[in-house]
Order: sequence, then structure tokens, then C-alpha cells
Amino acid sequence: MEAGLEWLAELPLSRSIRFSRWGYATVNATHIASIAILYGSILLLDLRLMGMWKRVPLAPLLETVPRLAASGLAMAMVTGFLLFATRATEYVQLGIFQLKLAIIFAGTVFALSVHWYGALEQRSSATLRTIGLVSILFWTSALICGRLIAFAG
Ligand code: HEM
Repeated sequence: MEAGLEWLAELPLSRSIRFSRWGYATVNATHIASIAILYGSILLLDLRLMGMWKRVPLAPLLETVPRLAASGLAMAMVTGFLLFATRATEYVQLGIFQLKLAIIFAGTVFALSVHWYGALEQRSSATLRTIGLVSILFWTSALICGRLIAFAG
């Protein structure tokens, strides 16, 4: 695995991002924009599930927000992988990076299971509140772990 990560970090694309100020800044800024799309959209839905803005109908939110959040997550995965590739051997050893990936994985599995379990509109308000709260906790933790990577190692 070590050899594979070294190979990844030495690829021309990884090296060009690592050694170019504008290249790194562009990928990093796109990662942050992706997180803004993911977190901003999911927060809106989660707060609504938790009982805020009750006059806003849930159905149109459920039709649009999960798609926007999924696009943000997909973009964050692509740009996050590019950032990871610049120092793959170092990032892989950081506990905070491993924790962030575990939280993203758990948050994604949670969101998919909520989606596949059936229509949200038919669940009790207590269940909706719990779903909103758990989802906010997952994505806020991922955000904090992502920011903490810069202070680790
Ligand atoms: C699997 C997908 C992802 C990977 C592989 C990944 C990887 C990375 C890497 C390598 C960095 C650079 C760390 C550094 O040296 O400072 C980073 C930064 C960051 N990531 Fe991710 N990331 C992913 C998804 C996410 C998601 C979903 C979130 C938020 C919910 C997130 C939040 C952050 C934050 C806040 C930063 C710091 C940005 C900055 O201050 O420059 N990441 N990520």
C-alpha cells in the first residue's frame, strides 16, 4: 500500500498541484465551494426536519436539496482526493484524516438509509427531529475534522 501511495503522490497531476501555488489554491477553493454546497444545503433541510420554518412545505425541499447535497459531496470527494494525492503517504497516517473519512462514510450511509427507508413526510416529528440532528452532527464533525487536518502532523 505504501508503494501505491508513493506512486499516487508522484504522478504528474499530483506533483503539479503540490508545486503550483495557483493549482493548489484552485483545487482547495473548489473543495471549499463543494463543502459549502453540501453543508449549506443539508443544513437547510436538517433544520427544517428539526422543526424550523414549519410553513415551508417539506415536499419541494425533499425533491431538490438531497440532489444538491449529493452533487456537493461528489465534488468534495473528487477535489478531496486530488488534495489527498499531493501528500498521500502523510495524510494516510493522520488520525484526524482517518476520522474524517470514517465520519463522511457513516454520514453518507446514514443519508442513503434515510432516503431508502421510505417517504420522510410520513414519519413522526420526533423521528424527523432525530434524523435532522444526527445528520447535522455528522456533517459538522466532518467539517471540523477537515479543518483540523491543517494543524495535525
Ligand atoms: C472523501 C472525500 C474527501 C477527501 C478525500 C478529503 C480530503 C481533504 C484533504 C486532503 C484536505 C487538505 C487538508 C490540509 O492539508 O489542510 C481537505 C481539506 C478540508 N476538507 Fe476535505 N476531503 C473530503 C471531503 C470533505 C467533506 C465532505 C468535508 C465537509 C463536510 C470536508 C471538509 C474539509 C475542510 C473544512 C478542509 C479544510 C479546507 C481549508 O481550510 O483549506 N472534506 N480535505
